Amino acid sequence: MPIQEDFPGLQGLCYLDSAASSQTPHQVVRAMESYYLEYRANVHRGAYALSSRATDAYEEARQKVAGFLATQPEQCIFTRGTTESLNLLAQSLCRSLPPGQRIALSAMEHHSNLVPWQQWALHQGHQLDWIEVTADGKLDPDSLTQVLDRKPAVLALAWVSNVLGTINPIAEIARRCRDNGTILVVDAAQGVPHLETKVNELGCDFLAFSGHKMLGPTGIGVLWGRAERLEALPPYHYGGSMVGMVTRQKTTFAPLPQRLEAGTPAIGDAIGLGAAIDYLRGHGMDQVRAHEKALLTYALQRLQEVPDLQIAGPADPEHQSGVVSFSLGKKVHPHDVATVLDRRGVCVRAGHHCCQPLMQHFTDLWTPGARAPVSLVRASFYLYNQRHDVDRLIDGLLEARKVFNR
Ligand code: ALA
Repeated sequence: MPIQEDFPGLQGLCYLDSAASSQTPHQVVRAMESYYLEYRANVHRGAYALSSRATDAYEEARQKVAGFLATQPEQCIFTRGTTESLNLLAQSLCRSLPPGQRIALSAMEHHSNLVPWQQWALHQGHQLDWIEVTADGKLDPDSLTQVLDRKPAVLALAWVSNVLGTINPIAEIARRCRDNGTILVVDAAQGVPHLETKVNELGCDFLAFSGHKMLGPTGIGVLWGRAERLEALPPYHYGGSMVGMVTRQKTTFAPLPQRLEAGTPAIGDAIGLGAAIDYLRGHGMDQVRAHEKALLTYALQRLQEVPDLQIAGPADPEHQSGVVSFSLGKKVHPHDVATVLDRRGVCVRAGHHCCQPLMQHFTDLWTPGARAPVSLVRASFYLYNQRHDVDRLIDGLLEARKVFNR
């Protein structure tokens, strides 16, 4: 995929942090520029041509999202990102359930698919159940069965772990949830940007993702839901655009998707996300996955050259997206590794990756009783990375080991 020229931000850089935020191609910036410079106006309000043009572009972006997910536009709600989508769900679902329900999470969840459920469960008197993770970073099948046997009202689960790269078997879990009457919420922040997504084949009830991890701008994301599940959600934010009739005493609400999009939306960002989807579809998501799989395979092979390197996760490209996290042993702190790599123009993330319970899991496995929790270096790939990026990573890791492992 020789597409570097579309990404001016990448020049000379070895960018291995797309799991945190991807780079943005010219095409996306131009689409947003066109909105801001040529037809900037609010949507769904003005009777004038400029506003109609902005509304059409905004709704066209929603249609692109729907096409990308193989679903209907009114089932795609624009939010500020995965975190807002998941907060919307945690609040709305936890509040609408009778108290004392079970909410299930896995031990590999990002804080954004953990803290909202934990806090709303506390607030509403629900109980959390946990699906444990195996030593090689997969969902523990026995623990999954035990948790599902307790018939949780909701299971909130990552499609792809942002730390381990593990691809969870969502379609199979969704079948089991359906038999149980469990609502399956999928945090697809690390899934949709990298894997072909057909929501009806995945079979979940809700799915959340962000634009900025898939070549789009920050500040825009999506909540997809099954029509009947979305219909049953109470509004999350109140304000303009989401109403039918308002009197001093009461308000009726607009149909979906507007009912869940209060206030002026992120119009330019939605248009940018639409352009990012066009770009990804131009390459084909099967090609994106094949490219990342090949890079991960090469990286896993070359990482073996680094002494004392320990991988957290499956180390298996069949069940792992283009994300790999590792430790270089007790003497080499991940933040120091990231600093050495940065001096060489190699960008990685280091630390707990917004997954402190998962870090505790690896602490218990790798350094039982240790006071400092495990922290990891993470390299993540996208369609613009190449094999020489992996080579630069390995050279930097070997240098970091030499500097700190005396
Ligand atoms: N969720 C992002 C990450 O994993 C920020 O880095």
